[in-house]
Amino acid sequence: MSNYDLVIKNGNIVTSGDNYIADLGIKDGKIVNISKNIDTDIFYDAKGKYVLPGGIDVHTHLDMPFGGTFSSDDFRTGTKAAAIGGTTSIIDYAVQQSGKGLYETIEMWEEKANGKAVIDYGFHLGVTRLDDSVREELPRILKDGFSSFKVFMVYDGMRLTDKELLEILTIARDNNGLVCVHAENYDSINYKIAQLLSEGKTDPVYHAISRPQKCEAEATNRAVKLAEMVDAPIYIVHVSNREAADEIIKSRKQGFKTMGETCPQYMLLSIDNYLEENFAGAKYVMSPPLREKFNQELIWEALRDDGLQTVATDHCPFFMEQKKMGLDNFTKIPNGAPGIEGRMVLMHHYGVNEGHISLGKFVELTSTNPAKIFGMYPKKGTIAVGSDADLVVFDPEKEVTISVDNLHENVDYTPYEGFKVKGYPVATFSRGELVAENGEYVGEEARGQLIRRGAPILL
Ligand code: URP
Ligand code: ZN
Ligand code: ZN
Ligand code: ZN
Repeated sequence: MSNYDLVIKNGNIVTSGDNYIADLGIKDGKIVNISKNIDTDIFYDAKGKYVLPGGIDVHTHLDMPFGGTFSSDDFRTGTKAAAIGGTTSIIDYAVQQSGKGLYETIEMWEEKANGKAVIDYGFHLGVTRLDDSVREELPRILKDGFSSFKVFMVYDGMRLTDKELLEILTIARDNNGLVCVHAENYDSINYKIAQLLSEGKTDPVYHAISRPQKCEAEATNRAVKLAEMVDAPIYIVHVSNREAADEIIKSRKQGFKTMGETCPQYMLLSIDNYLEENFAGAKYVMSPPLREKFNQELIWEALRDDGLQTVATDHCPFFMEQKKMGLDNFTKIPNGAPGIEGRMVLMHHYGVNEGHISLGKFVELTSTNPAKIFGMYPKKGTIAVGSDADLVVFDPEKEVTISVDNLHENVDYTPYEGFKVKGYPVATFSRGELVAENGEYVGEEARGQLIRRGAPILL
């Protein structure tokens, strides 16, 4: 009998710090041997291919209620698309609904995920209301495997005040937790929206005009300063522009544990996309919005120089029919766009092939750092003996033109239609099981497991 359930042979193993050719012996879902020439008759041949740690997308919204509708990928369709694209773990935002406690929220999200998800998943707790019962739950939640919170500084019914943010930062600091913040200036957005609507400016592009770069930079500065005030770590989600990124970079230079995430859309798309005709600009209505093109290069630079630590997607898809809720008023367009399937290939092609980041940095940003920051390392996020066999066999020569016709996200468009990439996953393994091969999901249904996460490693 073989010592292994699976051997992946001859692959070019790539981690954030290493690049070498070896065989991987896998048993009971874990990597148990890494060596040259493991003796076996049956194996998966990865000759000429990279073997990468599975991607980790730490910012997704599956089956999420927003603006009177729900994001269109549920945990089945969304995680299948993720697996095909080379992602083997996600952390989704379990957002506290009106009148609900935090444990009730986890239960609600576990009901959405369990029996549907095909890859492993964790939850950040989106805290939208602070009262005494929630205060009592916060430290317990952090120690129960949900070691990060999300706080919104915007969105009616979801946002917390600065005072509440300060309080939650302190609680997280004292309990080995991390607060993720959606940073935009609420009042300035409302002021701008009222002005634009009164002038009859209702098209999708005004979504971006109503939330300019400084609106995000100001709130990022405020969130970061509040964290510095109480010496708490903080993680700013979906940083869209360099002015906001600079607030993080400044804080890091002063030695604070301030971290930031960006998403492929902020390097690959721009404010010009909102001008696409026939309401097509609505495809890109997300918050923060797409920015002026000059930011793209500056965000790549921030990633390369460790100013920002992760690349996630903020995957939050809506069908065009749902987007049409805002046909006459951009404020009614549900916020969010798809991206869970393309993250790895876009970052590889436009990042590595185009010379913005190294191959090791690509792995670091899309897998290793997310695993560290969110308490999953080294079980996830690397290729090492003892780690989960979450692996992607990636063909660096495979050329694909991205189109809604070859993606598996449950939505009728992709913001990346027509984007050409060289390099694509040919096989994805989750805990040693082949789950996706050559652009199709081939694994069992509902096999994903809830990840209970440990304390963050602060970078
Ligand atoms: O527009 C976005 N980003 N929708 C999802 C919710 C959020 O703000 O992350
Ligand atoms: Zn957000
Ligand atoms: Zn460039
Ligand atoms: Zn989001």
